[in-house]
Formats: sequence, structure tokens, C-alpha cells
Amino acid sequence: MITKKKAANGFEYIEIENNSATAKVALQGGHLFHYQQQGKKPLLWLSPKSHFEIGKAIRGGIPLCWPWFGKHRTDPTLPQHGFARISAFELLESNEPDENTTELVFKLQSSAEILVLWPYQFQLFLRITIGPTLTVALTTRNCDTKSFTITSALHSYFAVSYISYVSVQGLEKVEYWDSLTDDTKIQKGSIHISEEVDRVYQKTTGPLLLLDSDRTIKIVRDGSCSAVVWNPWKDKSAKMADMQDDAYKTMLCIETANAMGDARKLAPGEEHTLKMTLSEYV
Ligand code: BG6
Repeated sequence: MITKKKAANGFEYIEIENNSATAKVALQGGHLFHYQQQGKKPLLWLSPKSHFEIGKAIRGGIPLCWPWFGKHRTDPTLPQHGFARISAFELLESNEPDENTTELVFKLQSSAEILVLWPYQFQLFLRITIGPTLTVALTTRNCDTKSFTITSALHSYFAVSYISYVSVQGLEKVEYWDSLTDDTKIQKGSIHISEEVDRVYQKTTGPLLLLDSDRTIKIVRDGSCSAVVWNPWKDKSAKMADMQDDAYKTMLCIETANAMGDARKLAPGEEHTLKMTLSEYV
């Protein structure tokens, strides 16, 4: 079942329910902010203090960082993580091929307003498949007469039981840029979080596992050779208006990305798809 909802402040979202899972996707940003398999806990973390307002990004779920990841390379006045997450997407298609699966396709394209921020003609398609697994695929199409380069991320906030209990496997021996110290390091063993972490792992394509005390989440990536791992820890959580002070204890971002050296240059007419599939095991 697909239900269109509109909050009193005009914020629009879509509720999905099928035999496998429930989900919620906001039209602003094509932002999936809830996914839960029937009978299980939510897969994604969502801040109870999040904004659900036009022009403000939701804190949690899967914000789309596009067409740049992080700060804009040359103009710090432009929005962090690009404009997609605060832009109005259109719902192009919704299908229920069987009782376990719902497919949604959203679209964002260049407009006079967006051309001021990014001077290229583009189409961006977001395909979300909600079933026993969750698949998110973001396709960029260059509709311009000149090439452009994008960096991006499926900025996934995972819900965890307690941050000290979790580990991330699949990035062993991978080189990463540590944004907190601005240097490059090599990952030793699996990742355990006991302080602020903000890293871009590079030249990595294999599946990632988020091991928690009561479940394992598997992230399978396609069209991506970089991954971001972020936890704001105590001080930064306390400083962020849309996060509770202790929010860092129950979330971890593992982002399927095209960041840094994994930027993608698209010639006129070319397309690129950044895709991930999330599954959960007990
Ligand atoms: C992560 C970045 O992807 O997103 C961090 O690596 C950043 O540096 C975090 O703090 C959250 O960004 P924002 O813009 O949603 O507050």
C-alpha cells in the first residue's frame, strides 16, 4: 500500500507498507527516513529532534548528498552536501510488482533556481525498492552540452543498539582520509567507535558488514569506490540542534559514496548510478 501524506506545515511524504516492510520517503530530497522489516526493529536511525520542514534536511534515514559531497570545493556559501537533500523531487512511478515489494521512482532536474547553484542541465533519478531488502539507486544523467563532475553519497544513518557494541567489517587495510586530522591512514582490523570519527575510505568496493549485538546489517555497493564512516560523538552531538546530546550512542553513518578521488566525470548524455542494497540478518 502506498499512501501520500501531507503534514500541517506542507511537508509531503509517502508511506509504504507491504508484506515485507514499512517505509517512509519525503518528497523533499527523495529522503527515505524510515525502513523496517515486518516484525523487526527499524534499520535506520532517525533523530527525534529532526526537522520535517521545507528547506531543512532531515537528520537520519538516507539523505542524498549530491552533486557534491561535504563542503563545496570552491564556494563555502553553497549548501553542505549539495542541494539535492533540500530540493523538491517528483514521484514519477510507484509499482507493487508483488505483495512483498514496492518500487518508487523519484526525479529531480535542473531548474532556473537550481542553475544558480550548479550551472548544468541534469536529470537525477532515485529508485527505491522496499522489500525484504532495501535498495536505493541514484542515477545522474548529464543533459548538458558540457561535461560535469559530481561527488555524492547515500548518507545512511544506521540504528545501533549501543555504539560500543558495534563493529564494521570490510574496510580492513583500506586507506582513508581522516577529516579530523586531515591526513591519510590505513585501517587496521575492523572498525570500533570510541571517539568522533569522520573518514572517507578510498578504493573500496566490497560488501560491508555492520555487526551489532542483536543483528548484522550487510551493505552491498555498486558504482561506488569510496565509503564514509561518521559518528559525531559526544561534543558534536551536543552542538547539533537537531540531535539529542546522547544521539551518538545509537547511530552510525556508513555512506555508500563517490567522494574525493572517486568523483565521477560525466560527458554530455552520459549516466552514472550509485547504488546500495541493505539487508539484515539476526
Ligand atoms: C558526514 C561528513 O558525511 O556528514 C561529516 O563526513 C558531517 O563531516 C556529516 O559532519 C553531517 O553533515 P550535515 O551537513 O548533515 O550536518
